[in-house]
Amino acid sequence: MRLILLGPPGAGKGTLAGRLTDCLSVPHLSSGDILRAQVRQGSDLGPALQKYMESGQLVPDDLIVKVMISRVTQPDCAAGFILDGFPRTLPQAQALNDQLTEVQAPIDMVIYLDAGEQVIISRLAGRRVCPLCDANYHIETMPPATSGKCDRDGTDLQARPDDAPQVIRTRLQEYSRLTEPLLEYYGTAGRFARLDGNKDIEEVFGQAQEVLTKTFGCVDEL
Ligand code: AP5
Repeated sequence: MRLILLGPPGAGKGTLAGRLTDCLSVPHLSSGDILRAQVRQGSDLGPALQKYMESGQLVPDDLIVKVMISRVTQPDCAAGFILDGFPRTLPQAQALNDQLTEVQAPIDMVIYLDAGEQVIISRLAGRRVCPLCDANYHIETMPPATSGKCDRDGTDLQARPDDAPQVIRTRLQEYSRLTEPLLEYYGTAGRFARLDGNKDIEEVFGQAQEVLTKTFGCVDEL
């Protein structure tokens, strides 16, 4: 199962991918998490990446394409993957398509999580993340068991620097300018489903289950 999750910042791509990765048994590849890990590990590119991310701008295509193509060609992706946050521009989509065509492993489905601006803003304002393991919480809709602490490792949770209101505005502008054109690119290309991402987590997961079951008949795996 090679799946792409598309949608604006805060639509719930990472949260849905986290649920689907378990039941589909394929890795969840979040481009944002991969970039943040590079920054944390002090890679040469780290400072440049951090500057783009903290300002809400997309990192250049050539850079992210290199990182993500190398990731999808790792052995753990042989049976498939869930892409969250990549591709995000037409050149990125074309580069991914070229790579997957070469290895005869096309994308099986694109799921578009749609969500309104007010929902997005309140989700990002309430998001808290673990700086150690990237686990994702929301102070109201997905709180940790102990307030302010990661359930997995007890680390103090933080707001993401790019969840500041002025940065959210830039991210939304980048999304409309550069990522929205992918809806047409994938919408006309075959298996494409739009989910209502404004709904709560269980409902969104239920919509995804329904679409995947209808398309692939994989009721047992879900
Ligand atoms: P990235 O980390 O990918 O951020 P994003 O796409 O803006 O997505 P988010 O992680 O903010 O949102 P999400 O849709 O995953 O929502 P989530 O599930 O977390 O990218 C960060 C930066 O990296 C970019 O700005 C860019 O600089 C760079 N970058 C990354 N990929 C790139 C690329 N391909 N090209 C160039 N640059 C790239 O949910 C949000 C909150 O809501 C959480 O708190 C969650 O608990 C809660 N929540 C989720 N779903 C629900 C629900 N249904 N109901 C209630 N609450 C919910």
